[in-house]
Amino acid sequence: MKKWYLFLVAVLGLTACGKDAGRAISDQQLADVFSLAEKQYLMLDEQLTDSTMPRTLNADGTLRTSDLNWWCSGFFPGSLWYIYEFGQSPVIRDMALKQTQKLKPLLEMNTDHDIGFQLNCSYGNAYRLTDDETCRDVLVAGAWKLAQRMNPTTGVIRSWDFLRKGWKYPVIIDNMMNLELLTVGARLGGEEQLGQVARTHADTTMKNHFRADYTSYHLVNYDPETGEVLSRETVQGYADESAWSRGQAWALYGYSMMYRETGEARYLVQAKNIGDMLLKRLPDDGIPYWDFDDPQENPLRDVSAAAIMASAFIQLSEHTGNKDYFSMAEKQLCTMLTPEYLATAGSNGGFLLKHGVGNIPDNSEVDVPLTYADYYFLEALVRYWKHEG
Ligand code: GLY
Repeated sequence: MKKWYLFLVAVLGLTACGKDAGRAISDQQLADVFSLAEKQYLMLDEQLTDSTMPRTLNADGTLRTSDLNWWCSGFFPGSLWYIYEFGQSPVIRDMALKQTQKLKPLLEMNTDHDIGFQLNCSYGNAYRLTDDETCRDVLVAGAWKLAQRMNPTTGVIRSWDFLRKGWKYPVIIDNMMNLELLTVGARLGGEEQLGQVARTHADTTMKNHFRADYTSYHLVNYDPETGEVLSRETVQGYADESAWSRGQAWALYGYSMMYRETGEARYLVQAKNIGDMLLKRLPDDGIPYWDFDDPQENPLRDVSAAAIMASAFIQLSEHTGNKDYFSMAEKQLCTMLTPEYLATAGSNGGFLLKHGVGNIPDNSEVDVPLTYADYYFLEALVRYWKHEG
């Protein structure tokens, strides 16, 4: 990001939002951004086939798609459901349904823990907004498929099937997000066992994945025979001992979601501890550096982590009554609504947000639009719109 712009944000409090009303983001601004989203997402839809989803942009500005098995395949249909929820356009509804139904074959494919993201963001939102019973069946079947990945000895769901450098049973903090498919599946299918798998994973992760300051490791490698923790490391962050921003965002969202889904106080305490740590460490404009511990003078920002945090902070403020969480979400959204982050109509390949960071150590998706940044941005805006208080 340009230094002069950061300077103006810090010194003048420059944002895209007004300051005089009770809400910094007006109803008109919300309507404008969802109208922009409709145009952008029509543009993305036109570029897809039956077996592709939007992923990011290539260096030459062309769309990079993914296949249906890529962990992000549920975000495009999910974003369309949020756009439909706000604007009620029948054209967007049909598009959301079409894009959601493309993912049913996942039930028959080899999938990993990310089937939670893939099905809950797509079919979960479809069911929430349409009550279509066929969506319920996919969600319950997907939840059982995910639950098979739990090993009772480790007490966690295995994240990835591939193994690197001494891993035996890798579990990443991102996996907290996939638990929502289990709690939704438990509710829809009436099977308490699914909810128990979610709680067991969340409890073991709370014990093994966090440092004393409530920052999270990216990956914990377990011994599947004994349940022992063999190593704690990073894959996508700056260093094994650093706080990779998106990992912290997944942790915040994951425990806040688990409190909402189960009512268990220990998850709320964990979410508050993570949230309070983030309130102290986030930069003035609310957009995290890609890793909180990158020692460079002005590291890249990761808008995807900001969007995930904003969505989680709004719900956490509702669970706790703490307005500081809501104020941070509002600040993050206001910064994301500035031209530095938000695309203009017809630009950015059809995506909404600029400046996401996928995987710097792998030199992949660096300072680009990301389908999940858009998804959590739209979710946060819908949550902001519905927030009372
Ligand atoms: N779950 C992968 C990521 O956050 O990049």
